Amino acid sequence: MIISSTTDYRAAAQKRLPPFLFHYIDGGAYAEKTLARNVSDLADVALRQRVLKDMSQLDTSIELFGEKLAIPTVLAPVGLTGMYARRGEVQAATAACQKGIPFTMSSVSVCPIEEVAPKLNRPMWFQLYVLKDRGFMKNALERAQAAGVSTLVFTVDMPVPGARYRDAHSGMSGPNAAMRRYLQSVTHPQWALDVGLLGRPHTLGNISTYLGKNVSLEDYMGYLGANFDPSISWKDLEWIRDAWKGPMVIKGILDPEDARDAVRFGADGIIVSNHGGRQLDGVLSSARALPAIADAVKGQIKILVDSGIRNGLDIVRMLALGADCTMIGRAFIYALAAEGGAGVTNLLNLLEKEMRVAMTLTSVKRVSEITGDLLVQGG
Ligand SMILES: Cc1cc2nc3c(=O)[nH]c(=O)nc-3n(C[C@H](O)[C@H](O)[C@H](O)COP(=O)(O)O)c2cc1C
Repeated sequence: MIISSTTDYRAAAQKRLPPFLFHYIDGGAYAEKTLARNVSDLADVALRQRVLKDMSQLDTSIELFGEKLAIPTVLAPVGLTGMYARRGEVQAATAACQKGIPFTMSSVSVCPIEEVAPKLNRPMWFQLYVLKDRGFMKNALERAQAAGVSTLVFTVDMPVPGARYRDAHSGMSGPNAAMRRYLQSVTHPQWALDVGLLGRPHTLGNISTYLGKNVSLEDYMGYLGANFDPSISWKDLEWIRDAWKGPMVIKGILDPEDARDAVRFGADGIIVSNHGGRQLDGVLSSARALPAIADAVKGQIKILVDSGIRNGLDIVRMLALGADCTMIGRAFIYALAAEGGAGVTNLLNLLEKEMRVAMTLTSVKRVSEITGDLLVQGG
């Protein structure tokens, strides 16, 4: 199979993974309108082509929270990454570090913090959900700090899990889920050997470490349903702000008023995100939400953005719309599922190459020069 894009990696991932995992990654909430618009609105952003300005020397790097990033993107937190490739968090994080960008570990990862962090040559980022079990949150913060995690990503757009219809149909949840998953696994032998057999244990590593007993995939959906906390408000975040010594970024901002609240709260950054279209269908795509948020808070707080980025040109578009940095979710997960860490490395190199093409043809030599001036007005 020839791989030249995220689309190719998606197709390869679909072949390799049992359907319950592929659709868990690929799907979104309700009718998946926001999921689709994340991609199509971004693809519709038109840039001004400029030529003949000697673009032989380009610099794609940025500095963010005191860290150097070789390209302006970060691997977004993705739950169960170790189910898509053998010890997937280790493979993805290693590829990110080799490229020179941060990996963000999800709270609901398969590998625990302690399995991944010591293998890396730069600090990783860690994502925390607001869970009813505040003991878990405190424990995770302490362990993250002990493992040298640099940046805390606090996800706030999941006080309740979204309605994802595909999961019930695919066997991720719903009737006879365990039996259906088993049957799908045995008909996908490459995955069954690589992950099903050699990628064990299949537990939620961070939560199992905290509870002192294995929390399995079987318990995953139940754990999430029982532990997300709809009572959360800005006030509940204050102790975390005080407990965490490094930069703290709020993930899941889609409205300028919430962005202003994040500035007032004292966050170091926000991530403009609709969780990849997995939470409330019908909300704005990130590409459409971003400009008003940038108008409201640019310069006061770092603005990251995710949801819909599939190539290096999309990264340039998001920066032109007002972001300081981006995050990628499905793009790296498809590559990881298809080819493991080597797939993530290849994808990140593709993103850089595509960014360089976009920078050359818009005549910007540095990332800081990617501004709204690049946008075709009314385009
Ligand atoms: C399979 C899957 C699992 C995810 N798990 C988490 C998670 O544990 N924590 C979190 O903050 N976001 C999670 N996200 C959201 C991503 O961090 C990110 O916001 C989203 O994937 C960006 O959209 P994109 O996939 O279009 O790039 C998940 C996304 C996917 C696809």
